[in-house]
Amino acid sequence: MARTERHKIHNREAVAEMPEWMKEKNCPHKKKYMAGKRIHPKNITGKEKLTYLVDEVFLAYNSARLKEACQLFANRMLAPDVTIGMSISGALTPAGLGCSSIIPLIKAGFVDWIVSTGANLYHDLHFALNYPVHSGSFKFDDTDLRDNDLVRIYDVVIPYSDGLMATDDLLREMFMQPEFQKEMGTAELHHLIGKYAAEWERKNGLKDVSVMAAAYRAGVPCYTSSPGDSTIGMNVAGVELRGSKLRMNPSIDVNETTGIVLAAKRAGGRSGVVLWGGGSPKNFTLQTEPQIQEVLRIKEFGQDFFIQVTDARPDTGGLSGATPSEAVSWGKVDPTKLPDAVVCYTDTTIAMPILTHYALAKHKPRKLKRLYDQLPKIMKALTKEYFAHNDVKMIDGSDPVLD
Ligand SMILES: NC(=O)c1ccc[n+]([C@@H]2O[C@H](COP(=O)([O-])OP(=O)(O)OC[C@H]3O[C@@H](n4cnc5c(N)ncnc54)[C@H](O)[C@@H]3O)[C@@H](O)[C@H]2O)c1
Repeated sequence: MARTERHKIHNREAVAEMPEWMKEKNCPHKKKYMAGKRIHPKNITGKEKLTYLVDEVFLAYNSARLKEACQLFANRMLAPDVTIGMSISGALTPAGLGCSSIIPLIKAGFVDWIVSTGANLYHDLHFALNYPVHSGSFKFDDTDLRDNDLVRIYDVVIPYSDGLMATDDLLREMFMQPEFQKEMGTAELHHLIGKYAAEWERKNGLKDVSVMAAAYRAGVPCYTSSPGDSTIGMNVAGVELRGSKLRMNPSIDVNETTGIVLAAKRAGGRSGVVLWGGGSPKNFTLQTEPQIQEVLRIKEFGQDFFIQVTDARPDTGGLSGATPSEAVSWGKVDPTKLPDAVVCYTDTTIAMPILTHYALAKHKPRKLKRLYDQLPKIMKALTKEYFAHNDVKMIDGSDPVLD
């Protein structure tokens, strides 16, 4: 068929060589499936902005998932009524993501509460203390590194004695101060540490280099799901041998994070999560809804927004790779909100700076919710609602004091 004839053909019936059975086949859903944007990007010139690349060049596979995550975050989740929880796994602060991305997200009011591995919060302190963390190579000889008093996190190197050990010395000294001599949740612990980190920043003439200092200033509660599983926890245990009264109570954290999600819903708002990596911070962030529904027996429906960046596969059954639709079956995600759930399979070190840049470029800062300051009120409301939904008394048989 000549080219001139071919361009007039608009449907399959018009193709003369088409077999009869194919001509008869009607395609009622074809339009629907072809409704997406045509893949026809312009040549890259080097003059484009990052937001243009995300919107116009990230067209398929995980680049398209990252675009969807950026757009969902900036266009929908940053609405004023959405309370945003963020989980942080993987060695992100040693890679500089605290300074480059997490602090700007906190300052812009784009994250309202955080669940992190203890490791990210521990290594955050080297930045406040102005201790060096350097780019290196994953090919470095580890025996030689040890002989030279250095430790390696893949291609990042940190001094051992004058980095890690020096941070630990200051942590132990801090943990023996009077304000630490009690039982507390990890939001309070990190708030108290954040106050010191803010002071270290100031003394070192540094600005906005520590996540915990930024969270302290912004009133963003910062939890860790495994309080014993980091050098912060190790130092808490160390000073306990010397009679310290500092005790971390994870139940306080479970109830406070649950209270934050419930308070968001009860204020007529919505709740969303941004999950960087998996691990226990991911579950700790998401288990707030099952805690509301399954344990406290309060009627609720699950998260309204869900973004996850991970390298973990779903088919091994591990929580790190579990999809939002699997989370629906546990009551973690509202089934009617699944279209507002995105999973992007990539490395956080790539995705987090891109999402942060995109959000800051597309959305003005939000008013800080300062949830840390509201935790006593949030806990009162959670307790009140628990007793309203359950015909129970205090374990000693008395009536609960609810006001
Ligand atoms: N010095 C310390 O305090 C120290 C140091 C290292 C680890 N730890 C502890 O070990 C535990 C494990 O922490 P972890 O940070 O190694 O997490 P992890 O390796 O358990 O990560 C959890 C999951 O997140 C995903 N993930 C990790 N990095 C990612 C990335 N860059 N991009 C995308 N997905 C990613 C992976 O699927 C992984 O299975 C934590 O409790 C931590 O506190 C402590």
